[in-house]
Amino acid sequence: LKHVLENKLIRRNKLGNLRELKTPSISVDFSSNDYLGLAQSSHLLTAVLRDVHTSSPCLGSTGSRLLTGNSLYAQLLEEKIAHFHGYASGTLFGCGYLANLGLLSALSSPNHVIFFDTHVHASIHDGIRLSKVPAFPFKHNDINHLEYRLKNRSSTKNVLICLESVYSTDGSVAPLVTICQLAEKYGASVIVDEAHAVGVLGPEGRGLVAAHGLQECIFAQVVTFGKALGTYGAIVLGKKQLQQALINFAHAYIYTTALPFLVLKAITCSYETFPKMETERAYLQHLITLFRANYPHASPTHIQAVKIPGNAAVKQAARYLEMQGFDIRPLLSPTVQKGHEILRISLHAFNTEKQILHMLHHLTTMRACDA
Ligand SMILES: Cc1ncc(COP(=O)(O)O)c(C=O)c1O
Repeated sequence: LKHVLENKLIRRNKLGNLRELKTPSISVDFSSNDYLGLAQSSHLLTAVLRDVHTSSPCLGSTGSRLLTGNSLYAQLLEEKIAHFHGYASGTLFGCGYLANLGLLSALSSPNHVIFFDTHVHASIHDGIRLSKVPAFPFKHNDINHLEYRLKNRSSTKNVLICLESVYSTDGSVAPLVTICQLAEKYGASVIVDEAHAVGVLGPEGRGLVAAHGLQECIFAQVVTFGKALGTYGAIVLGKKQLQQALINFAHAYIYTTALPFLVLKAITCSYETFPKMETERAYLQHLITLFRANYPHASPTHIQAVKIPGNAAVKQAARYLEMQGFDIRPLLSPTVQKGHEILRISLHAFNTEKQILHMLHHLTTMRACDA
């Protein structure tokens, strides 16, 4: 076994994508998912810790939701979040990875077929694999290719379409309205992961589905709390029947310890805070506009991707920017397709205009030197 692992690691190293842990950087943050700065908010932390001794007898949740890990607090929180996003039910999961795994595996059926955008997150790929449902990709954000898939499906199968509203790697935005129209035309169900949209986009940061009022057309929506919401955990939103199915069939829900009270309280406090952060959202939009005005081919969102093909080249670029004081991480293959390696730049409400212009200056100078 030792040799098998050694060989795998050697092969990885040769490909230039051996993963290693890096301690937090003191450089300007252009890499975290803390888009609103809530993860580092002392105001939020104070709210979470307020009255914590008197509000729960337990630090740990002590069991899974179906055993001793359930609480009225968790159930009311699920209801509140579902209502906020415009759904009938919400089901909490340990994190977004588990939410996608649990959701997709619970939909396992020989009568289903899945069409997924090629850019969806690894957790959706893993969930699809676990579901054992036959699955076919459609080209990223390509409506014609999706329609081709829908037209040519077997008429006896229920179709599930899986996508993200804002894609985590490059910040591209799904054409949600058109996808919902297609889903309606062909009787398909839409599953949308809003991990990178909630908190930042839509009215009160409710996300892109809410921005377009599309809840009725969505079969399931995944919201994660570890990104703009600054905490941890995730929820799957949908109809009541979906919740029943998850409680009964999602192993990632059934066979795991429930989120502890402190995390639930942090989620509660985040939901009391982020909807009011219109000033931060507006400033973040202003920074996006600034970025777009100064960088060609920029995405319309707070996530930007700068293509630098090759693992070695993109790692070197990230190192150079780190030396200039900017924390920007490379996305290597196989996380992204070989030849499509990128620097992923995330913009935050706490970044300044000066930091962005300074970083773009170094980025363009570096690229000009390489050309
Ligand atoms: C689109 C998307 N879905 C799900 C996840 C997983 O969420 P979590 O970090 O809460 O496990 C991520 C995390 O990177 C993501 O980008």
